[in-house]
Amino acid sequence: MILAKCKRCLALVVVLFVGVAARVVFSVTDGELLLCSFITVTLDHILCLRNGNFEHGPDKSQLNGTVVTGRYAIPNWEISGFVEYIGSGHKEQDMILAVPQGAYAVRLGNDATIRQRISVTRHMYYSITFCAARTCAQAEKLNVSVTPESGVLPIQTVYTSTGWDSYSWAFKARHSTVWLSIHNPGVEENPACGPLIDLVAIMTLPPPHRTKGNMLRNGDFEEGPYIFPNTPWGVLVPPMDEDVHCPLPGWMVMSSTKVVKYVDSAHHEVPRGAYAVELVAGRECALLQEVATVAGRRYRLLFSVGDAGNGCNGSMAVDAYAARATLKVPYESRGTGGHKRAELVFAAVANRTRVVFHSSNHHMKSDGTLCGPVVDDVSLVSVGKHTARRLFM
Ligand SMILES: *[C@@H]1O[C@H](CO)[C@@H](O)[C@H](O)[C@H]1NC(C)=O
Ligand SMILES: *[C@@H]1O[C@H](CO)[C@@H](O)[C@H](O)[C@H]1NC(C)=O
Ligand SMILES: *[C@@H]1O[C@H](CO)[C@@H](O)[C@H](O)[C@H]1NC(C)=O
Ligand SMILES: *[C@@H]1O[C@H](CO)[C@@H](O)[C@H](O)[C@H]1NC(C)=O
Repeated sequence: MILAKCKRCLALVVVLFVGVAARVVFSVTDGELLLCSFITVTLDHILCLRNGNFEHGPDKSQLNGTVVTGRYAIPNWEISGFVEYIGSGHKEQDMILAVPQGAYAVRLGNDATIRQRISVTRHMYYSITFCAARTCAQAEKLNVSVTPESGVLPIQTVYTSTGWDSYSWAFKARHSTVWLSIHNPGVEENPACGPLIDLVAIMTLPPPHRTKGNMLRNGDFEEGPYIFPNTPWGVLVPPMDEDVHCPLPGWMVMSSTKVVKYVDSAHHEVPRGAYAVELVAGRECALLQEVATVAGRRYRLLFSVGDAGNGCNGSMAVDAYAARATLKVPYESRGTGGHKRAELVFAAVANRTRVVFHSSNHHMKSDGTLCGPVVDDVSLVSVGKHTARRLFM
């Protein structure tokens, strides 16, 4: 399947995103904050990386064909390794890069890095979103880092028919000035083999907090990574080590290489609110949250299972686990949206309990891309005597 995907990749017509130049809300010095013209929603918590859409390119003297030859040739960025600047009309082997007028991306070849120094607020949480398209057969990876933290994002599975996926990654700022780097650690025979990168944005995440009547944090998934308004394919949330921050505050994504997909109501059906999570990797990826419990006390986990209205149809099921209890929630999807509520009552066996969800099976849309059931609106309440009495008083 990976190979079939790959062929698709090579043949893919790469479409770069040309935003409808929306209002630019603040003063822009020599057009450097062009990325902001893509952003039409609340700007106050989104940092626009300078030249984050790579619209400003190198001078001709710093290009050899598409290869960028100067370390500081791409305005606002510093590069190292084999970096290409890919523009409209670029053609290569059997791959046609059909780039709409005036749109550009960079390609990170062998051991290539792009980086930019950004100002952040110490101790705040941030998530980064960027778009990437794999171009070769290899199990490509990207190492995203914000000094001193880093994470390796597996990008070998393509989740869209365009070839472009949005990825997210989160960190807690340890310093007020940090380097944001995206690095392709791969070394291939063809030095140009490597992912294309376009659109980089960074957003502040609220510190983890709970809402009243729910022991879980961010149970409705209303907090999560930034989704570019003109990208209809959601944002992938990669797996991470337990001690690392998740772009979905409160939650963890566990897998070796697979992801969950964060979807928005602007482009998908979501059971409640503006966001939900699509479980796109079957049993290979779990979405979970750990919560403080009292051993022996009973709890009720309530959640919605549905489909994102994105053509993902068939007989689906979500498996939920908590303590020693499990529940399989079947869901018949017509791919047009819809959801149902499910409930799992369990007795805690320890002072920490993990609430875990995964899709029972893999699903695929008619275009061959992976998809799955959606989970949303998750809440956990104690049904022990004390809480129950307080609730009804
Ligand atoms: C441009 O790249 C080609 C192929 O790698 C190389 O032969 C040539 O010397 C380069 N030109 C310059 C000016 O560096
Ligand atoms: C990722 O990049 C960071 C920062 O450059 C580096 O410290 C780390 O070792 C890299 N990890 C991998 C697996 O390449
Ligand atoms: C899913 O949708 C496709 C295309 O609309 C249809 O051909 C197929 O029979 C559907 N499958 C199920 C299980 O509903
Ligand atoms: C939770 O349990 C662990 C071991 O089971 C224990 O070390 C820890 O102190 C407990 N924490 C609390 C808050 O009771």
